[in-house]
Amino acid sequence: MSFTDNPHRSRVARFLTQFSRYRLSSLAVAAVAGLGWWALAGSPVQAAPPAFQRQVRPILAQYCFKCHGPDDKSREAALRLDTQEGAVARLESRMQAVVPGQPDASELIHRIHSTDPDVVMPPPATKKTMTAAEREVLKRWVESGAEYQPHWAFVAPRPAPLPIVRHSNWPLSPLDTLVLKRLEDEQLAPSPSADRYTLVRRAYLDLIGVPPTPEQADEFVNDSLPDAYERLVDRLLASPHYGERWTRRWLDLARYADTNGYEKDRQRSIWPYRDWVIRQMNADLPFDQFTIEQLAGDMLPQATIVMSLPGLSVRATPSGTKCRGMSGVVKTSRSFRQFFG
Ligand code: HEC
Repeated sequence: MSFTDNPHRSRVARFLTQFSRYRLSSLAVAAVAGLGWWALAGSPVQAAPPAFQRQVRPILAQYCFKCHGPDDKSREAALRLDTQEGAVARLESRMQAVVPGQPDASELIHRIHSTDPDVVMPPPATKKTMTAAEREVLKRWVESGAEYQPHWAFVAPRPAPLPIVRHSNWPLSPLDTLVLKRLEDEQLAPSPSADRYTLVRRAYLDLIGVPPTPEQADEFVNDSLPDAYERLVDRLLASPHYGERWTRRWLDLARYADTNGYEKDRQRSIWPYRDWVIRQMNADLPFDQFTIEQLAGDMLPQATIVMSLPGLSVRATPSGTKCRGMSGVVKTSRSFRQFFG
């Protein structure tokens, strides 16, 4: 949510100000989970057919893509199983690997169950054997219509319909409705609205990570205009501390550390990278550009000294300092896989 396209600030501000004025105890969670939540809210909860991305694709990738995947140089039998068109296409044998809804007519299902070493897939030479459970997943997937779903990251999030709640006059925003629904399911009553001092303290802690000074708290509490809260949120979003606060999530994932770690824990001068991330967060660098610079800032044609720093970020971890060259890092760094992976 934090590193999105422009205009990031105004979108976050709108999101936050739509959020219930006096009920923002879960503001931070909401801000982080915002996008993921919209995406998830629309997907079925553990429905019967296997989920393509989570359950089916990993099996095909492990056993089949080597010879029936996106790489046309290593493709066998002109069969592609990574796309729906490929899977349902008529084969050289005039059969169809996948006939949606009909496992018995699907050559794929026949091949994975075969006991004939010349027929079974994956071929015995691969030394990979599917488990019965994996075969069953593929069978149920074909039975249920063999849908190929794109990765969630490429699906535009859509707001899900809001649940029906009993105290329908309590919510001031769609988020409140979701919170209230869960409370009602658990037979809990909402807490009373927070007083203004509590509210300003929460807003500061959530958005910039430090509490307000007494003067800052009074400034909000004594602001009697109706949009006092919206202006408070705008002020905090415009604060340079906003980037410091929210960049921490990224740096934690990147295993950023000011010092080397381990028993000697030596100093190192890696903080310019940290400051670069904070500046980009505050400046709304679009996520794609952020990713490119993070991975290969030092390889870009117009790279400045500062821009070459983020390319080094994967070496900011204790183990990272031992790696030489990008490829070594890519293979060894867990943090790399975690956030690009
Ligand atoms: C190491 C390479 C390799 C792997 C891995 C592999 N296949 Fe194959 N596959 C082949 C070759 C070669 C053929 C053509 C010879 C044949 O028909 O047996 C083939 C043929 C097929 C056919 C029949 C195509 C036709 O024209 O009728 C299907 C269906 C198939 N594979 C499914 C799979 C599935 C499903 C997997 C994973 C579970 C898989 N294959 C894994 C090499 C592979």
